[in-house]
Amino acid sequence: MKKSDALGAPFQPETFEFADMSLVEEIFSRYPKGREHSGIMPLLDLAQRQVAETGPYGDYPRGGGWIPKAAMDKIAELCGVWPMKVYEVATFYSMYNLEPVGRYLVQLCTTTPCWLCGSSDVVKACTDHLGIGMGQTTEDGYFTLMEVECLGACSNAPMIQVNDDYFEDLTAETVVEILKSLQKDVMPPSGPQNGRRGSMALTGPTTLEEQAKKAGVA
Ligand code: FES
Repeated sequence: MKKSDALGAPFQPETFEFADMSLVEEIFSRYPKGREHSGIMPLLDLAQRQVAETGPYGDYPRGGGWIPKAAMDKIAELCGVWPMKVYEVATFYSMYNLEPVGRYLVQLCTTTPCWLCGSSDVVKACTDHLGIGMGQTTEDGYFTLMEVECLGACSNAPMIQVNDDYFEDLTAETVVEILKSLQKDVMPPSGPQNGRRGSMALTGPTTLEEQAKKAGVA
């Protein structure tokens, strides 16, 4: 998925309206008058979440959240800025999808700590199980695979992000179990998949043991 191609994505609805304007007003209420452009990022997120719920999904029977150009133009109008200002923000951040994606956007971290801990096996398991490559979407619109840089959960490498959730301490086997569960529309428990709590050692706390006991996590 190339961001540079995104505004020219083949499928683009003519118009876009926010379904619930009270959510838009709540976003603007966070900022002083005259600073409506501060709402560009949360409005882009709102548009993406709305599309995830109701479409349009482009060629896919059931897809996930993305931001049509018409939504960016609507946000520019609401914020009183040139559309280019919104395009600049939307094309900069990888969390905004600018063309249709699958219902489950699977972002696979392959940066050094994840790679050292086996992300290549996780990637191969995903591509083999789904029969698609990186940047591709399954024909049923359920899964898009995307290679990403470090997602900040290196201590629990290798890991993936599916929509809003992190799945960590993965193996080829556990990631396939996650995909199978999502194929049934069941979101499995997020976090470490090897039984440990948070980023604590598998054997329990190795520092701050008293505090861990008091917090009830040891
Ligand atoms: S390297 Fe994968 S989360 Fe940091």
